[in-house]
Amino acid sequence: MPKVPKQKLPYVMINMAMTADGKITTTNRAISSFGSRQDRAQLLALRAKADAVMAGARTVDLNRVNLGPGPARYRRLRKKRGLAEFNLRIIVSRSATVSPDAEVFKHRFSPIIVLTTRRAGKRRLRALRAVAEEVKVCGAKEIDFRRALRWLYKARGIKRLLCEGGGELNDALFRAGIVNELHLTICPLMFGGREAPTIAEGTGVAKLAAAFPLVLKAMRGIGTELFLVYEAPRT
Ligand SMILES: NC(=O)c1ccc[n+]([C@@H]2O[C@H](COP(=O)([O-])OP(=O)(O)OC[C@H]3O[C@@H](n4cnc5c(N)ncnc54)[C@H](OP(=O)(O)O)[C@@H]3O)[C@@H](O)[C@H]2O)c1
Repeated sequence: MPKVPKQKLPYVMINMAMTADGKITTTNRAISSFGSRQDRAQLLALRAKADAVMAGARTVDLNRVNLGPGPARYRRLRKKRGLAEFNLRIIVSRSATVSPDAEVFKHRFSPIIVLTTRRAGKRRLRALRAVAEEVKVCGAKEIDFRRALRWLYKARGIKRLLCEGGGELNDALFRAGIVNELHLTICPLMFGGREAPTIAEGTGVAKLAAAFPLVLKAMRGIGTELFLVYEAPRT
């Protein structure tokens, strides 16, 4: 039998900032950014390596983000690396609850793709189709992330994907086994609060054997923050 060629998937990086108690925002979700200028520079440096930047519906709804490459020097860096000047943007929204009025849709510099499922109602889909370049249904009740990423690779040429949370989306990406790198900034703050989300929410795992293993690749203290890079073990 001829060998089936391995399906190509983008290389997936996640970048998150968390407090010393592992929170990514406060209980009321009012705080959207709490890292230093160095942390912001790391985010932009990672975006400058990525063909596309992805975020979950609540992250896009609650924050005034545009998910773009930022200042001109990062756009120049992208072009030097052979990437498009502006990265593609992807929003994950199982039920298409992301608001069409969210800030991200007001910035027209690059296409926005919304990944959703057949749970999404027609009215919501219509509203999103008016503001996004494409609304792609990638599953019945849940997004099949492997399928979605294969499509992004093949149809959109996405070879490196940066995911910027939030916690619910991160958990799904880890459970799908498609995360290659985790960039984590630990900020010297404590938020507390049982309801305040951490970097991986969702359903999680019940057994140690089911935990997603990580390999610590780099660790740097800059100012009052700690910058960690973990890699998924090679199989
Ligand atoms: N500190 C940081 O680095 C950082 C980074 C990012 C975000 N944040 C903060 O984190 C908070 C948001 O995090 P969050 O966990 O509440 O929300 P999130 O992951 O940004 O978004 C949740 C929504 O995304 C969609 N989604 C999530 N997982 C999915 C899956 N497996 N399949 C399909 N759709 C999925 C769903 O949309 P539907 O409802 O449409 O189904 C869900 O309601 C915000 O307060 C934000 O400021 C912090």
